[in-house]
Amino acid sequence: MTYFTGKVAVVTGAGSGIGRALALELAARGATVAASDVDAAGLAETERLLAARGARFRIDHVDVAERERMEAWAHEVAEDFGVVHQVYNNAGIAFTGDIEAMDHKHLERVMDVDYWGVVNGTKAFLPHLIASGDGHVVNISSVFGIISVPTQGAYNAAKFAVRGFTEALAMEMAARGRPVKVTCVHPGGIRTNVARSAGQVDGLDHEALATSFDKVARTSPRRAAEVILDGVAKGKVRVLIGADARVIDLLARVAGPRYQRLVTKFAGRSGL
Ligand SMILES: NC(=O)c1ccc[n+]([C@@H]2O[C@H](COP(=O)([O-])OP(=O)(O)OC[C@H]3O[C@@H](n4cnc5c(N)ncnc54)[C@H](O)[C@@H]3O)[C@@H](O)[C@H]2O)c1
Repeated sequence: MTYFTGKVAVVTGAGSGIGRALALELAARGATVAASDVDAAGLAETERLLAARGARFRIDHVDVAERERMEAWAHEVAEDFGVVHQVYNNAGIAFTGDIEAMDHKHLERVMDVDYWGVVNGTKAFLPHLIASGDGHVVNISSVFGIISVPTQGAYNAAKFAVRGFTEALAMEMAARGRPVKVTCVHPGGIRTNVARSAGQVDGLDHEALATSFDKVARTSPRRAAEVILDGVAKGKVRVLIGADARVIDLLARVAGPRYQRLVTKFAGRSGL
């Protein structure tokens, strides 16, 4: 028996990276999985892998930024499986560039997916999680929800917002005696498609950005999923993934706002 045995768990952005690894690891630990994404090819591969493991699951095409679709999906999953215990609001995108050079539409799209997607998933599933009597909300922020860096203004804003929203929810659930635990996850660099799928402002080289991300992203998606689920099972309110995430968390706590001076110096040297 694990914390996940017999539970129904929902994962967004499950067509790639951390989301796919979470779906597979949840199934391996005994959960029934409802997985969604906007990428049909990625979802088909996740479906194949879940089926090969003999998992009980359903797969749906859902854009997390579409509130009504998320609400309908929550209803469909609850109808199908009779109960929903856990939601992993994981879907996310990145966009690189200085705020000065970024259009509003880019700032808004990152916010729509990375922040409002998390809000939509939390709000749509929360009544079902409460009704389960043993619920858990798991929201994926980032180390960039702990410190900001140049060129990630849109992503930083969304990931800080996810952290603020998730920590408020955690305290509310505890203070109101609701049967729902809440975990905010801050991954460091994880070897996924996030940089390759990201956009950037004109003048930045997509391939060069993706290649430099590949060099610093040290943790595998599978390891990330294991660390997340181990933290969730222990009821942790915050989960850091990777040595890089632990160093960044320490830097933020020890240096306070002075971290900006250090990051600016480092960014200048590394061409960020
Ligand atoms: N990889 C990292 O280093 C890293 C670090 C910190 C945080 N994160 C966060 O982890 C989460 C997962 O990212 P990943 O690294 O696995 O990236 P990924 O690009 O491999 O996977 C993200 C998935 O989200 C899906 N997606 C994008 N927009 C969507 C939408 N509107 N609706 C539904 N699905 C959508 C994509 O199709 C993709 O399958 C994201 O929230 C990301 O910001 C990643």
